[in-house]
Amino acid sequence: MNMKISVSILKSKIPRSKCIEEVEKTDADFIHVDFMDNTFVKRSTFTKEEVLDLFKDSKKDLDIHLMVNHPKEYIDAFSTLKACKYIIIHSEINHDISELIEYIHFKGKKAGIAINPYTKVDSIKQYLENVDYCLIMGVIPGYGGQELITSTTMKIDELIKIREELSYHFEISFDGGVNGDTIKLLDGLDIAVSGSYVCMSENFQEKINSLR
Ligand code: DX5
Ligand code: ZN
Repeated sequence: MNMKISVSILKSKIPRSKCIEEVEKTDADFIHVDFMDNTFVKRSTFTKEEVLDLFKDSKKDLDIHLMVNHPKEYIDAFSTLKACKYIIIHSEINHDISELIEYIHFKGKKAGIAINPYTKVDSIKQYLENVDYCLIMGVIPGYGGQELITSTTMKIDELIKIREELSYHFEISFDGGVNGDTIKLLDGLDIAVSGSYVCMSENFQEKINSLR
């Protein structure tokens, strides 16, 4: 099966709403929404209200990456978006992860779990049976345009192995530093998230083609 592409609109030269329009014109499979709370990540980009407004009529399915310490209020809000397909929480937060996964499912959305570059796959093994999406971070969360930390790419094979052995169903995605060169390191991936490589360019579709 071909790898799907999700475009992160975190960093772009054009205004955000225009950037979304441009991504919608491409054949990207998803738009990746990076949401930060200024605590889990010492930065915040858009407010909850802005996300709800920007994506209320989104033509693309969304994978919403919650870089927040307390996801519940954002799960409540973003699950109301029709285009929201996946909601992804971070494994490193101080919450009952299983309960949050169940809560996302209860809201009718697919649930994802994200791991930071220095978080081991072993630490999330117990949740993998119940998630639909596993997001490997290739950079420290917070900013687009960082360089991919190559040691993180080994997690793809680790996850594929677990999925095969235990007949789990989650999709594997990779986020951070994905471009026309680093894509070669990501064999076996289901979904590649790419931000600045696409959105800082003059021709979004051309960059997406080079990833496929
Ligand atoms: C980092 C975000 C990523 C980021 C990817 O905190 O989670 O989604 O926007 O951007 P690039 O592709 O530029 O590394
Ligand atoms: Zn992200």
